Amino acid sequence: MNDLDKKQDAAWVRRLLEWYDTNKRILPWRSSPTPYFVWISEIMLQQTQVDTVIPYFERFVQRFPTVSELSGTDIEDVLKVWQGLGYYARARNLHKAAGVISDNHNGIFPESAVELQKLPGIGEYTAGAVASIAFGEAVPAVDGNCLRVFARFWGISDVIDEPKTKECIRSRLAGYVSEGNPSGFNQGIMELGALVCRPTNPDCGQCPIKSGCMAYEKSLTAVLPVRKPKSSVPHRTLFAAVVWRDDKVFVMRREYDEMLGGLWRFPNVTVKPGDETSESLGKIVEEQISFRARITGKYGQINHAYTHFKVSITVFRCEFNEGTAISSELRETLVNVAWISLEDVEEYPFDKASLKIIDLIRSVDFS
Ligand code: ADE
Repeated sequence: MNDLDKKQDAAWVRRLLEWYDTNKRILPWRSSPTPYFVWISEIMLQQTQVDTVIPYFERFVQRFPTVSELSGTDIEDVLKVWQGLGYYARARNLHKAAGVISDNHNGIFPESAVELQKLPGIGEYTAGAVASIAFGEAVPAVDGNCLRVFARFWGISDVIDEPKTKECIRSRLAGYVSEGNPSGFNQGIMELGALVCRPTNPDCGQCPIKSGCMAYEKSLTAVLPVRKPKSSVPHRTLFAAVVWRDDKVFVMRREYDEMLGGLWRFPNVTVKPGDETSESLGKIVEEQISFRARITGKYGQINHAYTHFKVSITVFRCEFNEGTAISSELRETLVNVAWISLEDVEEYPFDKASLKIIDLIRSVDFS
């Protein structure tokens, strides 16, 4: 890079910082960027939009105001506050990392990106974001927004989902992170990606770094960044049983090491194509909950999209079969099960698809 290029690059950094200073949104974690607040917000923002995160963040820090309060809390209570935000491994890792900070670091946050990355749930991006925003370390924080901004700015046409493209952008950015204001630099990029350099219809007229932006100059904003073609998402069909016993329904908690671990659900079974008869349901009740129930109706169907697959769940109404005793041997293993009334649902963290089932149950009247 010659000296002129360097000067132009320095100018874009300055314009970015000025723009961020006057255009930044007032967000709850920005008014008091303590390491704890920044960490919680960055974990919540990993796969979720700012507007969705705000009320969750406020509730979370009100309920668990410090690392030690978080680490001293039961994971079930953490999941309860997280409920509805999705990607629950984030909540489990927050809880684990709070334990590590309390036990191994005397409750004090590690201050460098390298040390932060050793904590559960903190990858390169989050470590960079926390280290720069909370501790002023001059390291980049490269997430999807940042990749889009710089694929356009530098006219990079390599597939941005590839690790080597990301590494190329990260190492190039490392040469520019403002030493004086790394927080403003990284958050300026995040803000630019969210408000101006949007995935579609970027507002280039408002962009503080359009001068020097390759995509703007060559009208390539609709073409860059280049992404890997999406593979089609598999679809699963499930049957779920809502088993009533008097005025209570049967629910079970997932093991902590499975997908959506620790969250409650209704018994369900994956139905193979061509096997979509209600007889499949009989198997659920026997195999998963060890007692028999009879089907007394169908509530309907709910659909839900996870990251890697979609599900359609047909929801059956069942009644506990009084005539069939639960064997005492099986009863011993059923520690993660409960009979609850619909009024008590709020006390149990359910995943999103199960919450849709609960809405469905409430909307159908069998009387
Ligand atoms: N997305 C990720 N981190 C963010 C932050 N600190 N502010 C706004 N949006 C973000």
